Amino acid sequence: MSTILLATEKPFAKDAVEKISKVITNAGHTVQLLENYTDKAQLCEAVKDAAAVIVRSDIVDADVINAGNQLKIVVRAGAGYDNLDLNAATAKNVVCMNTPGQNANAVAECAFGMMLYMARKQFSGSSGTELRGKKLGIIGYGNIGRYMAQIGRGFGMEVFAYKRNMDRLALQIDGVTPASSFEDIFEHCEYVSLHIPSTAETKGVINMHLLKLLPKNGMLVNTARLDVVNETDLLQLMGERNDITYVSDFVPKMEAAFNEKFAKRIFYPAKKMGAQTEEANVNAGIAAAKQIIDFLDKGIDTFRVN
Ligand code: 3PG
Repeated sequence: MSTILLATEKPFAKDAVEKISKVITNAGHTVQLLENYTDKAQLCEAVKDAAAVIVRSDIVDADVINAGNQLKIVVRAGAGYDNLDLNAATAKNVVCMNTPGQNANAVAECAFGMMLYMARKQFSGSSGTELRGKKLGIIGYGNIGRYMAQIGRGFGMEVFAYKRNMDRLALQIDGVTPASSFEDIFEHCEYVSLHIPSTAETKGVINMHLLKLLPKNGMLVNTARLDVVNETDLLQLMGERNDITYVSDFVPKMEAAFNEKFAKRIFYPAKKMGAQTEEANVNAGIAAAKQIIDFLDKGIDTFRVN
């Protein structure tokens, strides 16, 4: 019997926590819960006796890994695992996994909802624009990108996507036009939605070179990661062009500057909300619990990322 810590600074829905706990206890393991914590020291303390940890965007750095005396596995209940220090984990022989696809629909609905909200000028009374007939460009065509394309097509948008090593035929079967580059997307699509991970390669990749290509009334939608967008360049462009809008699932690093100058052309929730639905919480949390049980009990390491 092992202890599995569910550590969420931004908690899952109550129903999801109950279902995740049931999966763990039915498999003969024990659940330890740490929610709404405010300090890394609390996570380090909680992880001491755990064999496994389930987290969301919680930072699992070398201090946390090293505090886990019994730690064997960390599962990020979600897609992006840039919050896990993979080198520190590997050095301590701790397996890291994610749960790809489990919260993808929630993130796509959030991205599209925020996009629609801003296209309609935040329902402020001013005339907005319709999405039908407009071009939606998707950068990164994975699980979230695919859902985004489906919703866009449902709204009558023309959908383009770019993916590294893309299967052009698969995109065409989805009714999506394969784009040849990031530039191709930015040049032709009024709405550009980002669905790429944060890696050394993608940091700041959405820069002035691309942003300035946006057609009139261009909107950038970022539910990917904060650091893929070069905020200095975006601020500059929004200053030069009053038709550009930015929606994001993250509070910008340069929040004050954006708000001071462009309050009506930017939208972001106070907390990252993309995956914050009961369904996504249940799907990702249960997938994480099952992956941990399979690993602890049978050594199965599907979805390992280190
Ligand atoms: C993900 O990478 O899965 C999403 O960004 C969701 O993150 P969250 O679990 O912190 O809401």
